[in-house]
Amino acid sequence: MGVPRSQSYWFSILLVGIFLGIISSCKTSDISDITNWAYYGGDSGGTRYSELNDINLENVSQLQVAWEYDTGEEVDAERPMTNQCQPIMIDGILYGTTSRQKLFAIDAFSGEHKWQFDPYEDSDLRPQYHAIRGVVYWSKGKDRRLLYSIGPYLLAIDAGTGKLIKSFGEDGKVDLHIGLGDEETLGYDVYQYGIRSTSPGVIYKDLIIMGSSLSEGGNALPGYIRAYNVKTGDLAWVFHTIPLPGEFGYDTWAEDSYKKLGAANCWAGMVVDQERGRVFLGTGSPSVDFYGGARPGQNLFANCVISLNAETGERVWHFQTVHHDLWDKDIPCPPTLMTVNHEGKKVDAVAQATKDGFVFLFDRDTGVPLFPVEEVAVPTEPALPGEVPWPTQPVPTKPKPFARQTLEEKDLTTRTPEAHEFALQRFRNSNHGHKYLPPSEKGTLYYGFGGGAEWGGAAADPNGIFYVNGNNMLWWLEMKKLEAGSTEQRLPRGERLFNQNCAMCHSRDADMTANQAYPNLNKVGERMNESEILSLLESGRGRMPSFQHIKDRDREAIVKFLIEKEGEKKEEVFDVHKRVEVTAEEGALFPYVAPYMNSGNNQFLDHEGYPALQPLWGTLNAIDMNTGEYVWQVPLGEFEELKAKGLVTGSENHGGPVVTAGGLLFIGASYDEKLKAYDIKTGKKVWEYLLPAGGFATPVTYKVKGKQFIVINAGGGRYGLKGGSKYVAFALPE
Ligand code: HEC
Repeated sequence: MGVPRSQSYWFSILLVGIFLGIISSCKTSDISDITNWAYYGGDSGGTRYSELNDINLENVSQLQVAWEYDTGEEVDAERPMTNQCQPIMIDGILYGTTSRQKLFAIDAFSGEHKWQFDPYEDSDLRPQYHAIRGVVYWSKGKDRRLLYSIGPYLLAIDAGTGKLIKSFGEDGKVDLHIGLGDEETLGYDVYQYGIRSTSPGVIYKDLIIMGSSLSEGGNALPGYIRAYNVKTGDLAWVFHTIPLPGEFGYDTWAEDSYKKLGAANCWAGMVVDQERGRVFLGTGSPSVDFYGGARPGQNLFANCVISLNAETGERVWHFQTVHHDLWDKDIPCPPTLMTVNHEGKKVDAVAQATKDGFVFLFDRDTGVPLFPVEEVAVPTEPALPGEVPWPTQPVPTKPKPFARQTLEEKDLTTRTPEAHEFALQRFRNSNHGHKYLPPSEKGTLYYGFGGGAEWGGAAADPNGIFYVNGNNMLWWLEMKKLEAGSTEQRLPRGERLFNQNCAMCHSRDADMTANQAYPNLNKVGERMNESEILSLLESGRGRMPSFQHIKDRDREAIVKFLIEKEGEKKEEVFDVHKRVEVTAEEGALFPYVAPYMNSGNNQFLDHEGYPALQPLWGTLNAIDMNTGEYVWQVPLGEFEELKAKGLVTGSENHGGPVVTAGGLLFIGASYDEKLKAYDIKTGKKVWEYLLPAGGFATPVTYKVKGKQFIVINAGGGRYGLKGGSKYVAFALPE
């Protein structure tokens, strides 16, 4: 007290004051004023987690629409396209894509349009309207670029101007065929076959690392992982997911498989541990789906979780989740980097959800499973001729699967007696039971051709809780023998729809003895004309259900298929995913023509279009990965008309969750077209909003000018629902 202060004392106080002032102003602009969502998946580790908590359990009920951005694209009511893009937000600008693959920049606070880039304008590119799940941002000094992929190209666009960066690759684009190998190595010209990338790549330093989406048939290119220089587009490294002679894993295939078979690709995206310099990814099944006669062996590195050195592409470790895949069990989402408390120790881990509803948890450095994985004996009969199914498959001891594993009669729908009867017919006429039954000509019921987990992926919070949405959907797979020298292509639409809706009751096989109860439709065209069959499908009759629930044009396609005469030209297939027709040249290895093909991907729905099994059809799960125990599992999605009858069902869902420090999980994804918020502690739904169209994409959250936003792309267009062209932003009222 009363001690005089020296001048230098006051001067130091002033300095400290200025210093603190600088720190706190940095703080306002960096943390409390703006929080980016700079990556597909939220951060480099793909946690879909945000530390923002302005929107929280107390105030979530007040959320309201802050703005809507209409991409300006017309929505085709007949065949709406879906838009799966999860946008990114950097320094106040939101970047995303439209259904027709334009890239846009808008003001993240107001939704105001800045620019759009149309890859097809002034360009010789031909539209391939595949899904785009996200875009990549990279910057160094003034050089700020966005990278995204359309058709076979990776494009680099200036983030400020929205113009192609011509110095990248060739005229602004890198052809994703680059790095797959030349004719001398593979024996064929890769440029003759299709490649694209529906999920964005990942950045490590000045590299962009890319996966690919490929055909699942005999013309599938190899799914090698490639890294390109983000400035020049030059190829930096290649990892062979189907090993070449002399490489590790080569002996898990028949000799020369790399010349004949493809896929084993990463289509669902990757994550990077920037500090360790490791990229983590999951691969899909090898070609061709459902028949592996030409690839006896475990088939590394198909169906693997892989850790690569991000600098060099060298393999650090791998873990195969399905050996010798006969079920299209691609790894359907990126791995998730998380830290868990395992047996009293903090362990940096990587979690991987699968189409089967498993979650594998690995030590991030070694790939050793933290919860033991057992190799379990599985059925190898009945197998198609030439097929050698692998006798065991890996099953994690913990956590329990979040999707169903076996199918018994008691699992069939009892929604109505008719629906049960309908399901029972197909059940009795098909193989069913164990999930690893090999595919057969008789036809088999399976879960999980569509997951289990799906491309929306999972979220993880800092407490080691893993949040994942799951599907329980049944599929019916029938294998057909191909005549020698025949071509492989998807079945015409009418035939696919017939298999899906009618074949469980009606045969079209001329050799089948007539079934009194269910007429054989082999020559139905001689008994009935087009309009008679159409009106029967409309009305139903006796045990023949009505098919009013399917679209007019689908009914017409089925009838056309039924009355088509032998030798008549098959109706054109309209399908953006249409496979290129494959005709193998005499003696050529590639494209490979398998002796069996599948009858199409047939979801097993009941006669009124609902899943033909007991609910829950869609779930949301919170799993404590410290212990491997469930925190909660709740239904995700609903059907209004079933809910009105007191049925809790959940629904099929595509698009992932986002979790925040506000104690909330946000997700769209399900059939009900709503964005929903859940309490992460209890799984209780605490808020929902009916979007202008379904939100079949993962939402994002960020903060700009001190305000937290939740944004979801409401592109609709799945499950036969209406399409949309809007991104919708929510915030708390002023
Ligand atoms: C649950 C079993 C079931 C399913 C599924 C089913 N039907 Fe039928 N269908 C029947 C039965 C039973 C009849 C005989 C009805 C009667 O006359 O009483 C029938 C009759 C018909 C007939 C008349 C055949 C004739 O010779 O009189 C046609 C055509 C037909 N169905 C087409 C279809 C088509 C196309 C689908 C799929 C969109 C379909 N059905 C799905 C059970 C089924």
